[in-house]
Amino acid sequence: MKKVTLKLLGVSLAFGMFFLSSCGGNAHEATEAQVEPTVEEAPVAEEAPVAAIEYNAEQGKALFDAKCKVCHQENGEGVPNAFPPLAKSDYLADKTASIKATIHGLQGEITVNGNKFNSVMAPVPMTDDELFQVMNYVYSSWGNEGSITMEDIATAKM
Ligand code: HEC
Repeated sequence: MKKVTLKLLGVSLAFGMFFLSSCGGNAHEATEAQVEPTVEEAPVAEEAPVAAIEYNAEQGKALFDAKCKVCHQENGEGVPNAFPPLAKSDYLADKTASIKATIHGLQGEITVNGNKFNSVMAPVPMTDDELFQVMNYVYSSWGNEGSITMEDIATAKM
């Protein structure tokens, strides 16, 4: 009879343990909540425009000296009856035509500042960035006033 009572006691103890452990869930949840880290969101920088480029006079001059000077001359005056001037050239008023001349070359009769030229300029291969620099050098040198944008280049390429 004593043996049976002990057995029952054991069973009820086991039950008790089961209940205790299933109710102890609270403590467990609390620890998990503490562990959850608070991630500070880093401020996201404004996205830069795709064609962010600034005119660099030094770079523009270096490109002009390397790719244009031999014909249009250092002072941009060109050579009468051979190479038209870029200095104060009225041809530059048409930005698209001027950029196109550099990209595709130019041939046939043109009139620059009242003087006729009928010769050939071969295309001058350049990246858009180089084109931007050298054309801005032309548009801002020798008394010329003006500038060209990446949009002007895109238009000339259409
Ligand atoms: C090998 C000689 C030569 C080189 C190098 C040369 N050009 Fe020309 N360029 C000419 C000739 C010749 C013409 C006129 C073509 C014609 O008669 O149709 C011309 C015309 C032009 C014109 C239109 C007319 C004017 O005078 O405004 C522009 C703009 C121009 N060139 C820009 C450039 C630029 C910028 C470069 C350098 C990236 C360059 N050229 C390099 C020979 C050259």
